[in-house]
Amino acid sequence: MIYLKSEEEIELLRENNLLVSATLAEVGRHIAPGVTTKELDRIAEEFIRSHGAVPAFLGYNGYPASLCVSVNENVVHGIPSDYALKEGDIVSVDCGTFMKGFVGDSAYTFAVGEIAPEVRALLDTTKEALYKGTEQARPGNRVGDISAAVQYCAEKAGYSVVRELVGHGLGRKMHEDPEVPNYGARGRGPLLKAGMVICIEPMINMGTKQVVFERDGWTVRTRDRKPSAHFEFAVAITKDGPDVLTDFSVIEKALNK
Ligand code: MF3
Ligand code: CO
Repeated sequence: MIYLKSEEEIELLRENNLLVSATLAEVGRHIAPGVTTKELDRIAEEFIRSHGAVPAFLGYNGYPASLCVSVNENVVHGIPSDYALKEGDIVSVDCGTFMKGFVGDSAYTFAVGEIAPEVRALLDTTKEALYKGTEQARPGNRVGDISAAVQYCAEKAGYSVVRELVGHGLGRKMHEDPEVPNYGARGRGPLLKAGMVICIEPMINMGTKQVVFERDGWTVRTRDRKPSAHFEFAVAITKDGPDVLTDFSVIEKALNK
């Protein structure tokens, strides 16, 4: 069941996703060698609550934290811990908020200090794949047009696309229909209509596409332990095309301060 959103509902989703953007910017300002992933989680939870929202991930299916923090070979759903970031790491931070009856959900992969050029290229391509998919998010297209655009961008650069986890509709619930895979065929899948709001979230691996589900019940990592990147934002499909509800520019401004 796909719920179409009114303009007012889309504005509430935008408020949430702008708060997620601001939270990721605040987290990004604190990312440095020596900082633990638990400290990042505490910073995010305080920031979210001080803005009148609730962390959407905390307690979701029993998830124990406000952020998912996934370092290097960890793809998604890393649980914040006492691990201290070190120079050269990459860290995917996924964040969700809930306020005014709606959810925000976005992710950004940060570099810790200087990273290897081939890892920087993985980050750049994963973000580019997200933008390529977003261009396809318009009425009359199908979910497969988004999926194929993401996959083409990633594979053209020699990377692989994780299959086990997908994007999703976003609304009063964090995971609504439709599913939005990061691989697939143009012209296939559910028809996109004005009023749909979806999260597009490529998870792109430098090596094999295969992943392993760790025994902590949450962490997903690459089978070959090569790095993986994850960028996610929320997009409203309007009659004029995609309206991105998340704002990566506030994150990038915080990083270039
Ligand atoms: N942000 C993730 C997604 O896009 C969900 C996080 S799972 C949670 O689907 F359990 F941490 F909430
Ligand atoms: Co999501």
